[in-house]
Amino acid sequence: MSESKEILVTGGTGFIGSHTVVALFEQGYTPVILDNCSNSTPSIVKQISLITGKECTFYLGDMRDKAFLKSVFEKHSFEGVIHFAAFKAVAESVEKPLYYYDNNLTSLINLLGCLEEFQVNKIVFSSSCTVYGVENSLKPLNEEMPVGKPNSPYGWTKWMAEQMLIDIAGKTDLRPVFLRYFNPIGAHVSGKLGELPLGPPNNVLPYITQTAAGLRKELTIFGKDYDTPDGTCVRDYIHVMDVAKAHVKSLSYSFDSTFEVFNLGTGKGTSVLELVQLFEKVTGKPLNYQFGPRRSGDVDALFADVSKAKKFLNWNTERTIEDAILDAWKWEQYRLENEIS
Ligand code: WQD
Repeated sequence: MSESKEILVTGGTGFIGSHTVVALFEQGYTPVILDNCSNSTPSIVKQISLITGKECTFYLGDMRDKAFLKSVFEKHSFEGVIHFAAFKAVAESVEKPLYYYDNNLTSLINLLGCLEEFQVNKIVFSSSCTVYGVENSLKPLNEEMPVGKPNSPYGWTKWMAEQMLIDIAGKTDLRPVFLRYFNPIGAHVSGKLGELPLGPPNNVLPYITQTAAGLRKELTIFGKDYDTPDGTCVRDYIHVMDVAKAHVKSLSYSFDSTFEVFNLGTGKGTSVLELVQLFEKVTGKPLNYQFGPRRSGDVDALFADVSKAKKFLNWNTERTIEDAILDAWKWEQYRLENEIS
């Protein structure tokens, strides 16, 4: 049997990265994880093995350390890279801009140096709907819309990263696919893998599940005066396994340009209050919550036009927001019973 293709997954112990590693194994690839575990834990590698029955090579280290990064490339012959490693909390980036610019951009620049040195031309880049900025919100976002002015340093790091990749692709054989995520949520259907942020979650669904599990006193819904039907922010919540599958599909995308961009969402917007009410409905668990002031960096509504990914990646969402909520709740209970943290 031919040696399966090695794929470097930076940030592979993180939420979307770990689920993508599972999807890569399922499609016959050999993923190799590189992560500094700044917002994850090495125990996730064991969970991936529990699900797949496969051992995954894992390098613990920081991509800002050029020598470390190069040493990983010297040990492998990567067919491609999926680059997840980045800080991703919108509000935190407003408070700590340099922390975000240094981590997210220095890591990418070092990676690009290795891709050039080791002649790896395939990169799938974890981008974000935040690059569309505020001016485009309130309507389905499509990839032809010009990138706007992101509303946070986090969004700017994704905007700048895309521009770097476009410029380099124009002058080399590098062929990047940008995947602009909307709001990935949920967990692996087995309940053995899911979102595991260190400390109080920045994202809404893990905060909900931790509140329901009694780890947090109550959820604060940030803002009830947005320009949306119930006044709370609207987002496009997509199951993390659907997001993971799109990454695997992107590895075999055949280019007729020097780079490509795809939105990853469901095309449907759901408000924070609707998400809370859906959680209570599908789990039967009432949730303690209150309304509080707006959070810096948030915009009223962000949801996707996903027709391009459906057409060109031959990809479609297979799971619902209810599936994601139930899977996330199953994971929350599993990880507490098994003391995974
Ligand atoms: C969603 C809504 C909050 C917590 C995320 C990722 C980002 C990017 C886009 C991939 C907002 C509200 C939250 C809480 C709340 N994804 N909220 N109480 O900000 O849309 O960004 O998706 O690149 O990386 O972080 O997601 O889950 O933080 O917030 O009311 O305790 O939930 O105000 O309206 P966000 P989020």
